[in-house]
Amino acid sequence: MDEYVLMDRRPQHLYMHVPFCSGKCSYCAFYSEPYGSARAERYLDALERELAPWTDVAAGGCATLYIGGGTPSLLSGAQWSRLFGILAPVTAGGVGEWTVEANPGTLSAERLTALAAAGVNRISLGVQALDDAVLSALQRRHRVADVAPSVALVREAGIANVGLDLIAGLPGVEDAHWRDTLAQAIALMPDHVSVYALGVEPGTRLAQQAACGAVRLPADSAVMRALDIAASVLADAGLESYEISNYARAGRQSLHNLACWRGGDYLGLGPAAASRVGRERWTNAPDLAAYCAALEAGAPPPREHEPVDAETDLLERLLFRFRLAEGVPVADCCAEAGPVGEALWLRWQPELERLQNEGVLIAADRRWFTTVRGREVLDSILERLMP
Ligand SMILES: C[S@@+](CC[C@H](N)C(=O)[O-])C[C@H]1O[C@@H](n2cnc3c(N)ncnc32)[C@H](O)[C@@H]1O
Ligand code: SF4
Repeated sequence: MDEYVLMDRRPQHLYMHVPFCSGKCSYCAFYSEPYGSARAERYLDALERELAPWTDVAAGGCATLYIGGGTPSLLSGAQWSRLFGILAPVTAGGVGEWTVEANPGTLSAERLTALAAAGVNRISLGVQALDDAVLSALQRRHRVADVAPSVALVREAGIANVGLDLIAGLPGVEDAHWRDTLAQAIALMPDHVSVYALGVEPGTRLAQQAACGAVRLPADSAVMRALDIAASVLADAGLESYEISNYARAGRQSLHNLACWRGGDYLGLGPAAASRVGRERWTNAPDLAAYCAALEAGAPPPREHEPVDAETDLLERLLFRFRLAEGVPVADCCAEAGPVGEALWLRWQPELERLQNEGVLIAADRRWFTTVRGREVLDSILERLMP
């Protein structure tokens, strides 16, 4: 992979994975290690080395910067100062939307003031559930009473844009309980709400608990109902669905995620981070020790690298867009892509029309949209559009 060729593409969206948590939630398969101060410092040294070849590219700033994890809010004040220094070549050129993921109860007024002063203008808070028994069953380290004070602290620090993450279809959360969760979340006046259907990821404690019968998972129909309830309750509260799992007040969509779903290039730094730049895709290995050791030795971090051909590149960028409520301008994108696009359009057009006849897609204003039914069966639509 020739990074210097890729650098010409100037990815405008930067993701940074902070791979530390204070424990492991039962459902989570995101890569993280237990937080430790020395470990975090070694990680920051390695991150600086990984970013170094890209600093010239990023010197003009970036449209979005997303610091996710893991639990970035676990970094100490001194570690945040160090991170701001590492990012200075990028942030000096200006950052449009700068998001930090945080867990309730891990934020202080002092830390938030430092984040705001550095330019962070959006916080995404992992609420998941608003019931202490459910949070404790999920092995979360926060309690319901931590959530409202965390939101208030974010706003008091001058960070106005606050998103909350919730999980639908959690064991033991019946419809009335779920409506209550949504009402409590709405009362916090979030700008953005993500509602993810619970995924049972291989290797997680939840997967073990489900396999041995210690946890009874809700039926698919109950999960579907929970997602429908969320869509209608959030719409009534003025949070518009702009992506299959995401809702926002006008102008408060996550610009970072939107750019990735619209097919933009992004550079991911840190263990387990994924990148898409031009026709290159690479994902760093989810291994902090190996990440640090490679960068300390002057080598790139271990990663899986997959260059894709022009057709796969276009296909992948278009398929993601079916998640968005704004629809997909398939014919226009194909026309812009030249011969590869023309071939794809010839192949897709009859299939898109069949999907329209089946009531899962609809065409209007040169765009293709999923219908309500289409969103329920999105995976099977995408499968039919794959080669
Ligand atoms: C990178 S994660 C974690 C962010 C933050 N550390 C936290 O826990 O609050 C981002 C979001 O993914 C969601 N998530 C993680 N694992 C999930 C799963 N197995 N099923 C559904 N949602 C999941 C959670 O809503 C979480 O807030
Ligand atoms: S959900 Fe968040 S806090 Fe829990 S293990 Fe995953 S990344 Fe860490």
